[in-house]
Amino acid sequence: MGKQRILSGVQPTGNYHLGNYLGAIRNWVEAQSEYDNFFCVVDLHAITVPHNPAELAANTYTLAALYLACGLDLEYSTIFVQSHIPAHSELTWLFNCITPMNWLTDMIQFKEKSERQGENVSVGLLDYPVLMAADILLYKADKVPVGEDQKQHLELTRDIVNRFNHQFAKPENPVLKLPDPLIRKEGARVMSLVDGTKKMSKSDPSELSRINLLDPPDAIAKKIKKCKTDLVRGLTFDDPERPECNNLLTLYMLLAGKTKEEVAVECQDMGWGQFKPLLTETTINALKPIQEKYQQVMDDKGYLESVLRDGREKAQAIANQTLTQVKAAMGYSLP
Ligand code: TYM
Repeated sequence: MGKQRILSGVQPTGNYHLGNYLGAIRNWVEAQSEYDNFFCVVDLHAITVPHNPAELAANTYTLAALYLACGLDLEYSTIFVQSHIPAHSELTWLFNCITPMNWLTDMIQFKEKSERQGENVSVGLLDYPVLMAADILLYKADKVPVGEDQKQHLELTRDIVNRFNHQFAKPENPVLKLPDPLIRKEGARVMSLVDGTKKMSKSDPSELSRINLLDPPDAIAKKIKKCKTDLVRGLTFDDPERPECNNLLTLYMLLAGKTKEEVAVECQDMGWGQFKPLLTETTINALKPIQEKYQQVMDDKGYLESVLRDGREKAQAIANQTLTQVKAAMGYSLP
């Protein structure tokens, strides 16, 4: 039997942070040799909120370089840019016409983001999860490794599969494959440094709320120094009254590569004055190799472009095949 296929992606909107790394990219890297992997820079998703063209172009390269810097290996993983493959947009249209409107108006992320934007909210923002379903289903992915916040979008993707196969395929010969989310327990929801009840987010206006993967050591030190804590001495996991404490211990555990038990014992008698420098040093050391590799990749634009060209070719062949099958099932054929 061949390897199972993985597909996932990040939006190139800048401010890539520890949540993106610990909730998604790091898990892609760790498991990559077990799977046939496709990782996409989802630049069509990035225009669902108002955007600046020059920033989009720059962020697309930055993110592809970060994928490599975090350890994606081209022996196992294909890296490509969503907008390079027209099949993503075309399949979205076909899915739009079989997706009930209320499935989209019910999405939590749409409700949250549209509330912030008021009347300017675009049709694209509403349609965003359908584009995401197209991303996944074009590659017949078995598994989709993401953070907790994407769970509802994965459920919608599965609903689209069932509806499409029911309407346009025979049960013994389904056209679309049902994907499973792959959500790790630890790191699936990294919280803001200034409020342990809110997730760490690229769009939070407060820079102090997140640690970005490309933050220099002094910025990391400053953010951890100023992060929210509490007045209790002794640090413990899983206390609902202490969300910040749980979040910071989890960050330490994941970045230091320690087990939960080890960290629980190590930190049980610590105060914040002792823990914060430890977390700072651990974070700086964990991000250093990523930042160094990132610089190397960015210094060789030609190489990065060749990676994305090769990625496009490999991804496109698979995407076009699925698109043709979907269109045939819906009644479209070429003469
Ligand atoms: P995006 O760009 O918002 O986030 C990229 C990945 O990072 C995860 N993530 C987090 N994980 C833990 N804690 C956090 N605070 C945190 N913030 C973000 C996200 O869960 C995600 O895995 N819609 C997707 C992009 C996308 C996609 C796809 C993903 C488009 N098409 C197809 C998988 C498959 C998004 O906006 O991710």
